[in-house]
Amino acid sequence: MNKELRQAIIAGNWKMNKTRPEAKALIEELKPIAEKATCGVIICVPFTNLETAVELTKGTNIKVGAENVHFKESGAYTGEISAAMLTEIGVEYVIIGHSERRQYFGETDETVNLRTKAALAAGLKPIVCVGEVLAERKADITKEVISTQIKLDLMGVSAEDIKKTVIAYEPVWAIGTGEVATDEQAQEVCAFIRETLAKLYDQATADAVTIQYGGSMNPKNCAGLLAQPDVDGGLIGGASLKAADFGVLLEEASK
Ligand code: 13P
Repeated sequence: MNKELRQAIIAGNWKMNKTRPEAKALIEELKPIAEKATCGVIICVPFTNLETAVELTKGTNIKVGAENVHFKESGAYTGEISAAMLTEIGVEYVIIGHSERRQYFGETDETVNLRTKAALAAGLKPIVCVGEVLAERKADITKEVISTQIKLDLMGVSAEDIKKTVIAYEPVWAIGTGEVATDEQAQEVCAFIRETLAKLYDQATADAVTIQYGGSMNPKNCAGLLAQPDVDGGLIGGASLKAADFGVLLEEASK
């Protein structure tokens, strides 16, 4: 039990939700709620809401993240956004390798690795997502899948940089399905990720890394998950879109 060595972080992943007026309203509602939190608070919002989110959260404890970033510095990559474009407007975090990007947009461990290194080089803190699909869990190969993703996604990331990186364990079968992992399943894989990091780096480094659980976490099921020794907060989809729900998660992670 060495949870005190690292920060619990609750990060909202708004996905493709919220127009600008809706984003403004949600952030204003969130500010007084988030103020009480002692855990880290991040909202990852669509590109079009980033500047608004940075402006509205200035001087608060809410940090802002993007939901993706390209790995090239600039050039002929129509539709893409570079890490420097994010940092210049005050964005601090970025989600990389979310399963929806792996599933629908051709993201691979190789591109996750390139994006992670590009983000770190630009001073952005990556939230790297890993997780098995249902067939892999049923075939009892979850640990092999996770270990491969961790090794490939973080290849070439220094010990200093891994401490700035957040890892989110998101079992794909639990995302947006209402079917949450049990407390034990979440703990088992988060602990396994830490063991893998200890082998790749060393125990002290692994102990310093924030490892979140994500997938249908909500006010009703969060207490048990967040109390697990290796679960350092959560990456939250649906429940991040309502200030009151997100507030319950912040309160629980602050205990
Ligand atoms: P839900 O909380 O909606 O299941 O989404 C989880 C997720 O994908 C966060 O990145």
